[in-house]
Amino acid sequence: MLLGVLFVGISNYFGVNSVPYIRLTIDYIKTASNQNYLPSDSYHQLFIYGIYMLGYAALSGFFLFMTRQTIIVMSRMIEYDLKNELYDHYQKLDISFYKRNNTGDLMNRISEDVSRVRMYLGPAIMYILNTSFLFYFTITKMVTVDTKLTLFVLAPLPLLAISIYFVSDTINKKSTKVQEKLSEITTLSQESFSGIRVLKAYGRETHFINEFEGLSNNYKNITMGLVKIESLFQPFIVLLIGFSTLFTLYIGGMLAIKHQITYGNIAEFMVYVNKLTWPIASLGWVTSLIQRAAASQTRINDFLHTEPEIKSTHFSTEIIEGNVSFNNVSFAYPDTGIKALKNVSFEIPKGHSLAIIGRTGSGKSTIANLICRLYEPDSGEILRKRNNTVGRTKAAYCYRQSYHKKTSNNDL
Ligand SMILES: Nc1ncnc2c1ncn2[C@@H]1O[C@H](COP(=O)(O)OP(=O)(O)OP(=O)(O)O)[C@@H](O)[C@H]1O
Ligand SMILES: [Mg+2]
Repeated sequence: MLLGVLFVGISNYFGVNSVPYIRLTIDYIKTASNQNYLPSDSYHQLFIYGIYMLGYAALSGFFLFMTRQTIIVMSRMIEYDLKNELYDHYQKLDISFYKRNNTGDLMNRISEDVSRVRMYLGPAIMYILNTSFLFYFTITKMVTVDTKLTLFVLAPLPLLAISIYFVSDTINKKSTKVQEKLSEITTLSQESFSGIRVLKAYGRETHFINEFEGLSNNYKNITMGLVKIESLFQPFIVLLIGFSTLFTLYIGGMLAIKHQITYGNIAEFMVYVNKLTWPIASLGWVTSLIQRAAASQTRINDFLHTEPEIKSTHFSTEIIEGNVSFNNVSFAYPDTGIKALKNVSFEIPKGHSLAIIGRTGSGKSTIANLICRLYEPDSGEILRKRNNTVGRTKAAYCYRQSYHKKTSNNDL
């Protein structure tokens, strides 16, 4: 990143410093044509100026290449880290998290949202740096030519800054909605593909087609709103830049007639204004990139800051074997509050099987879930007993981890 800042500065330094040669060239041509120099002589001088311009452009280009090699590469590495961090965190979260959130949303946050954050860390930061350096170098050069002319040419800029401020807020709100709608679409597609057997067996194709169309329509409408704002914004910027060119020609022309600046200066200023055109035009785009990244980072943080409800405080690599013992275990499903088990106690000796028979909904599968520690019992203990002594650790057979049970009241 720091190297990138350095390179972007150097690239702009060389880029801007090639411009004065345009003034030198034009002024040379004017003087030469007035004083009737020998053509071979002036060609030679023009050639030298040309070489200088080419040299500066080549250096500027090389450092632009280096800028992209540092800043864009950095953003790709952060993207890689962020994806891994999110995926690792997904693995730690418990079943109830996966019941609350759907797969499409999970997938969207790890792909779409992460890449939006990358767009900010890479291109957006690069363009901001580029614009800042370009402004600094260009404006210092312009001021040495004529301060008044510079002020007139730059007059439309504050207007631009204010309008960007207002537009970015609207863009932010709309892009959050766009992202939400996209998640809904991803979820529906993912669910209909993974459940395609059920969907087809019950002949629900038309229903899902309609549902998808509805969501797509919503998405389209909200995106259209966003596009409308952005498409109004771009021509507005071009208009402001047009005014800058107009001022350069008009006021620069007046100054040149009064011999305060040269013709070459007018040409030089036109190039400066042109150099500023793209960065100013891209400000709107960069603003929306930042806004989108902010919205996406919030969505990513939502999940990253979700703490798993089941936490292992004590990790053990030992192979868990022995008797499985339930001691006054009670459990209610957190999302529905349905009490599935109430004061259940039993012990299964090592190597034996246990058959549990009961009505549907009596809690048989819940016992299996608890043994695998997909859920944490509300009260009571699930223990592993070895050699007729009670192990001080509870067993989480599926994960081969053991952990201490916090004491809680058993009187449910
Ligand atoms: N994931 C869940 N979320 C909320 N409540 C649940 C969940 N799973 C089961 N339950 C509820 O907990 C109770 C026990 O369900 P469980 O699935 O353990 O019964 P079961 O004995 O396995 O039934 P079956 O014989 O139908 O498999 C039921 O009332 C059920 O509605
Ligand atoms: Mg069951």
